[in-house]
Amino acid sequence: MAPPQDGKAAEVKEESVPQRPISDVVFIIAMKKEASPLVEKFQLTEESNSLFPKGVPWVRYSGKYKDLNINIVSPGKDIVLGVDSVGTVSASLITYASIQALQPDLIINAGTAGGFKAKGACIGDVYLASDVAFHDRRIPIPIGKLSTGDSLDMCPHDETAIIANDATVKDMEGAAVAYVADLLRTPAIFLKAVTDIVDGDRPTTEEFLENLAAVTAALDQAATRVVDFINGKNPLEL
Ligand code: ADE
Repeated sequence: MAPPQDGKAAEVKEESVPQRPISDVVFIIAMKKEASPLVEKFQLTEESNSLFPKGVPWVRYSGKYKDLNINIVSPGKDIVLGVDSVGTVSASLITYASIQALQPDLIINAGTAGGFKAKGACIGDVYLASDVAFHDRRIPIPIGKLSTGDSLDMCPHDETAIIANDATVKDMEGAAVAYVADLLRTPAIFLKAVTDIVDGDRPTTEEFLENLAAVTAALDQAATRVVDFINGKNPLEL
C-alpha cells in the first residue's frame, strides 16, 4: 500500500473490500522482458481493443487462469525513444487507467529490482514487499522496505534516503503504483526480483542486463505461486 503521512502502510479497509473471492487481477509490469514469461505462463492474449486512450503505447494482455480474470498491463515503448517506458510516471498512469477501466480486486506490481546485500538480498531472490516508499522526493517520508525512484543507478543523496527508508530492494515503479492504488482504494502487492546488488562491486547496468533473463524466470515462478495462492481467496484473507 502507499505510505500515508504517518508512515504505516495503509490497511485494506474492510468496508471497501468485496466479501467474495478475488476474481479480477491486474499485473502492472514495466518491461516487455519482465512481462513476456507471465503472458505465456497464463496463456494471455494481447487485446487489440484497448480500453485506454487512443494513441497511447500501453499494452494489455488478458485471459482466464483458474478462477481468475488476469490482465497484464505494460506501458509499452516510449513513442520518441522506442524503449520500455520504465519509471514512476508511466507506472502511475497505467495503474490509474487500469483501475478505472477494469475495476480489479487486486493490483500486482511485478518486476525486477536492485537488492542490498547489507540486507541479505541475493541475485534471483524474489521479494514480496511489505511497505514501499519513494527515495528521490526530498520530503521526509516514513519507513519503506521497497524504495522507488526514477533512476537505475544510485547517487549519494539517494543512498542516504534509501538507507533511511530501510530498504532491502530498490525499484522504479512500486511506490508510484502504491500511490495510485491507495488513492483509488484498490489493494496492491509488490513482487520484486533482484537482478543486481546495489551495494555490491559490479556496475549496476552490466549486472542488471546480465541477470535480466534468468531473474525474470524466478519472478515468473514467484508470480505464479502468488496467483495460485490468491485463487479462491477474498482480499481480507491475504
Ligand atoms: N530494477 C532492477 N535493478 C534496479 C535498480 N538497481 N534500481 C532500480 N530499479 C531496478
